[in-house]
Amino acid sequence: MSLGYRLVLWNKHKKTYDKIIVSGMLIYIVLFAVITLLFNSETSIETLIIRAFGSLAIIMLHIILAIGPLSRLNNHYLPILYNRRHLGVSMFIAAFIHGGFSSFQFHALGDTNPIYSIFTSNMEYHSLTNFPFQVLGFFALLILFTMASTSHDFFLENLTAKVWKRLHMLVYLAYALVILHVFLGAFQQETSLFTIGILSIGFITLASLHLITAFKEAKIDALSLAEKEGWLEVCTIDDIEEDRAKIFTVANERVAIFKYEGNLSAIHNVCKHQGGPLGEGKIIDGCITCPWHGYQYLPGNGQSPPPFTEKVATYELKLLGTTIYINPKASEEGTAIKPCKY
Ligand code: HEM
Ligand code: FES
Repeated sequence: MSLGYRLVLWNKHKKTYDKIIVSGMLIYIVLFAVITLLFNSETSIETLIIRAFGSLAIIMLHIILAIGPLSRLNNHYLPILYNRRHLGVSMFIAAFIHGGFSSFQFHALGDTNPIYSIFTSNMEYHSLTNFPFQVLGFFALLILFTMASTSHDFFLENLTAKVWKRLHMLVYLAYALVILHVFLGAFQQETSLFTIGILSIGFITLASLHLITAFKEAKIDALSLAEKEGWLEVCTIDDIEEDRAKIFTVANERVAIFKYEGNLSAIHNVCKHQGGPLGEGKIIDGCITCPWHGYQYLPGNGQSPPPFTEKVATYELKLLGTTIYINPKASEEGTAIKPCKY
């Protein structure tokens, strides 16, 4: 794939996905306003906007962070993972409206620069209960902005998938900053108990999901056979479903062994796009299809079909009876290896 800027192609899936995001956001804002005004008709429009968009942003952030582990635990969640970036950009917009409005409301009406005012209007940095929590929100918003503005594939290709992925892992730092922003802010608001309760449930749910997924992945790693040289026994033919794969860790690398039309082929499990787990995808039209965004690779040589140029490493397999053995030494990316027939 070239390094030129390409327009985003809005296919039917993306349009439906975006419509769901936008209507979900609108419904939330309206419901939030109605419920708040029912319980407290004195609430000013400014407070309503700040709270509605702040809470919307943090709910969306939880959904975004839950999608990854959920889709690794259950394939049914994969459609939400597809185009998760659109959800990220929409979340940033909600956070920006909240942060921008708060900065305007509380920091821009005097003669001090609003950003300077966020850092200096409250200097109680040593206090837990009076900490200037807005500063934490500011840094979180900065990270979310960096991520939203580099979310297009243009940056992914130019920065390389590795750097892009690292940059986007900053979402966890943003999450930590937002959690502290809200916790410390809640101590200073009348809504504190409710906010702290809801946020704690969100945090515990996310932490549990990530722990369960890590445990599942560790089990795959445990299958890693200690030997570094020689052929390794991995599984039997019947252990793998037709047009699907099983993932093993071989010499510290994740490898996916695919079974299709009487053939077995092994490739490196990591997709060149954004590191998606190829072994969790399936063979569609003769190609291994990444479960995350649909990049495809030929099982026999690990290459994307023309005109695409992505390549992953391939591995030799052999069969003794119905038991599959793998040569742990990876071949060069894109090397053709004759499929193992059974
Ligand atoms: C420049 C950046 C930011 C500023 C100046 C800021 C400011 C504020 C202020 C003043 C409040 C208290 C509002 C009130 O309840 O009266 C607040 C609460 C909150 N903020 Fe931020 N914020 C920023 C960024 C963020 C970001 C990036 C997020 C989430 C992604 C966020 C999420 C929230 C949430 C969930 C609340 C609690 C809302 C509630 O009480 O119902 N904020 N923020
Ligand atoms: S990670 Fe995006 S297609 Fe594989």
